[in-house]
This record gives sequence, structure tokens and C-alpha cells, in this order.
Amino acid sequence: MVNFLIFGPPGSGKGTQSVRLAEKFNLLHLSTGDMLRAEIKAGTELGKKMSLIMSKGELVPDEVVIEMIANKIDSSKGSAGFLFDGFPRTVAQTVSLEKMLNDRGMKIDQMLVLDVDHDELVKRLIARAELSGRPDDKDPAVIENRIDVYKEKTEPIINYCNNKGLYQPVNGMGTIDDIFKRLCDHMKKLL
Ligand code: AP5
Ligand code: MG
Repeated sequence: MVNFLIFGPPGSGKGTQSVRLAEKFNLLHLSTGDMLRAEIKAGTELGKKMSLIMSKGELVPDEVVIEMIANKIDSSKGSAGFLFDGFPRTVAQTVSLEKMLNDRGMKIDQMLVLDVDHDELVKRLIARAELSGRPDDKDPAVIENRIDVYKEKTEPIINYCNNKGLYQPVNGMGTIDDIFKRLCDHMKKLL
């Protein structure tokens, strides 16, 4: 199993690229954002509790997403590895993920970080707001808060992973196809 983190600020293209990469390399795409939105859509108690936090662009508690990921890791079979999208988002989540993987004889093999200019992030998310129906895309102040939360709570993971030799920056500007090719070139070296 080869396990990747696809990393970057809101709107950097994690979800868009993960879907394509998972298909190309037979990886299991695990997006905590998608899992949480599925809970909200299904009207579960968890979904009800998390929806307000998400609509403000704040992070849900670490233990909620850690449990979601642990369940998925244990119930998945037959893929070449995992592609973690939007998880981990705090150093504490990263430490938990490492432990989960290590306990099962695996590790994080690479962190691919999409670098995208701030104005481009905002442009992409505002454009998506029309179609996505995501409450966190509708309000520009919430978009800015999501980017601030990323810088404050999530970006420190880059340093943590860099110290372990896992950090691989990727230019996330340009067309979806060009960025996909850049990501594939890095992943092919490990798969
Ligand atoms: P999450 O769902 O992870 O959202 P996010 O990080 O805010 O990022 P997005 O999904 O908005 O962006 P993306 O990088 O996937 O970009 P995308 O490919 O969609 O999290 C949502 C919320 O859930 C969080 O705020 C938090 O509350 C909670 N949460 C989730 N995980 C959590 C965790 N681990 N811990 C705690 N809380 C958690 O692209 C964006 C748009 O741009 C799309 O419309 C796309 O079509 C377009 N686009 C993509 N690439 C390009 C390109 N090259 N050119 C032009 N347009 C492009
Ligand atoms: Mg996403």
C-alpha cells in the first residue's frame, strides 16, 4: 500500500484532482469534507451537530474525523493505497493518522501540497458557490475564514511532514489537466 496526503488550502483543487488520481492509480479516495457533508445530507445526529461549525468555516473536533477515517481504513480492501483529501488538518490529526497506519503496517508515503495564489482560491470558490450549494462557499467572509483557519491550524503540518522527508510541493496554478499531470509525475515514482 502506498498512501498519499493531497494537501492545500480550500479551493486548491484537492477534491478535483483526488477523484482523477484515485481512478488512475486504484487508490481509495478518503475526503473527510465529503463524509461530513454526507452525514448532513442524511440528517444524522452527527451531521446536525457538525453543520453549524462547517458553515462558519471552522474545523470540526479532531476525534470526529479521526473516528471516521479509522472506520474507513478498516473497512477497505483491494486498493493500491489511500489518498487522504482534507485530512489531516491539524498536527494532532496527523499524529493519529500515523499511528493508525503504523498499527496496520503502513505509513504516510508522501504529502503532495498544491500551491495556489490567494486570489485564485477565492475566485474558484466564489465561482463554485452557484453550483455546489455549499453554505461555506456562499459568503466571502467564510471563504476568508477557511483560508485563515488553514494557515493557522493546518499549514503547520507541512513543517511536521517536511521534517520527515514527506513534503512535495506541486504548482497548483493552471489548467486541471496540467496540474493532474504534475501530480501523476510525482506519484508514479512511488507507485
Ligand atoms: P473540505 O470539504 O475539505 O473543504 P476545503 O478544504 O474547504 O476545500 P474544498 O473542498 O473547498 O477545496 P478543494 O481543495 O477540494 O478544491 P476543489 O477541487 O473542490 O472541508 C469542508 C469543511 O469540513 C471544513 O471547513 C471543516 O469544517 C470540515 N472538515 C473537513 N475535514 C476536516 C478535518 N479533517 N478536520 C476538521 N474539520 C474538517 O476545487 C474548488 C473549485 O475550483 C471547484 O469548483 C473546482 O471545479 C475548481 N477548480 C479546481 N481546480 C481548478 C483549476 N485548476 N482551475 C480552475 N478551477 C479549478
Ligand atoms: Mg474538497
